[in-house]
Amino acid sequence: MASRPIFVVAGVGNASGTGGASARVFSNAGYRVALIARGSDNLKKLAGELTAAGGDAVAFPVANYSYQEVQTVFGAIRKHWPDGEIRAALWNAAHGTWKPFLDITEEEVDESLEINVKSAFAFSREAILSFKDLSLNDNGKRGTLIFTGATASARGNTTTSVFAAGKFGLRALSQSLAKEFGKQNIHVTHAIIDGAIATDRQKERRDPEWFANADVRLDPESIAKSYLYLAGQDRSAWTWELDLRPAHEKW
Ligand SMILES: NC(=O)c1ccc[n+]([C@@H]2O[C@H](COP(=O)([O-])OP(=O)(O)OC[C@H]3O[C@@H](n4cnc5c(N)ncnc54)[C@H](OP(=O)(O)O)[C@@H]3O)[C@@H](O)[C@H]2O)c1
Ligand SMILES: *[C@@H]1O[C@H](CO)[C@@H](O)[C@H](O)[C@H]1NC(C)=O
Ligand SMILES: *[C@@H]1O[C@H](CO)[C@@H](O)[C@H](O)[C@H]1NC(C)=O
Ligand SMILES: *[C@@H]1O[C@H](CO)[C@@H](O)[C@H](O)[C@H]1NC(C)=O
Repeated sequence: MASRPIFVVAGVGNASGTGGASARVFSNAGYRVALIARGSDNLKKLAGELTAAGGDAVAFPVANYSYQEVQTVFGAIRKHWPDGEIRAALWNAAHGTWKPFLDITEEEVDESLEINVKSAFAFSREAILSFKDLSLNDNGKRGTLIFTGATASARGNTTTSVFAAGKFGLRALSQSLAKEFGKQNIHVTHAIIDGAIATDRQKERRDPEWFANADVRLDPESIAKSYLYLAGQDRSAWTWELDLRPAHEKW
């Protein structure tokens, strides 16, 4: 029997958002899961939760998302599962700063471009190197690389200059990779999450009514199910870009 495919997710936070939900959904679908984030306590907790539920999930904490750290962590993942096949990878980490343009500092420009763009280059490189020598799976592909985008991936607004510059860059990377590696049956896909996600962080900021109302906010698990669907698409009809928004969106 073929071994279970590996799903790598970077940007898990405290497991209440899109990264955590994706880890759960892919684990339930039979993937082994490599969890990447800064800070190991939440990661270990999530790995324990998934393993207790019958999965095979391992925490791979990083000090930060520098190019070098991202490369090194893929080495650790390959070493942990020497015969394993990385078949799906999700770049979910992001740096978000919302400020009027004139208030933005040089450091914030560096951080946004570093996390949203440069780190994603390192992650993409490692994912593609992992996929490229694998045989075709049942869907006729070698692997699926997924990026989490935002409204600011395609639309700038009054306080988004530094965030949108990063997210546009990420979208440009994903589109270029989709063109370059489609020919090698590597599926690269980008999701514009066009609205606010019901994470624990949003719960603290917003009123409980908003949080409870599935008409107005995105559920991380629902996003994760769409990611699993993307990973399951076959080579004859696959998506580069998907946009997800709640039913009653107003923008
Ligand atoms: N929350 C929303 O309403 C919303 C809406 C649209 C799109 N999105 C996008 O959805 C993705 C996931 O967002 P989420 O809300 O589910 O989780 P999140 O907590 O907003 O952030 C996702 C990850 O980004 C990393 N991150 C956050 N700030 C960072 C910083 N300053 N430096 C380096 N890394 C940082 C964290 O990594 P660690 O795991 O290492 O802590 C975190 O897990 C992001 O790409 C975000 O842009 C979010
Ligand atoms: C990232 O972490 C590594 C390892 O601890 C460290 O050497 C490096 O300076 C850090 N990079 C940044 C940008 O903080
Ligand atoms: C753009 O910003 C304005 C002012 O903050 C806000 O009302 C509007 O909803 C934003 N539009 C989008 C598409 O996010
Ligand atoms: C996640 O962090 C938020 C604070 O940002 C906190 O309210 C929440 O309880 C945490 N959730 C988990 C599962 O640790």
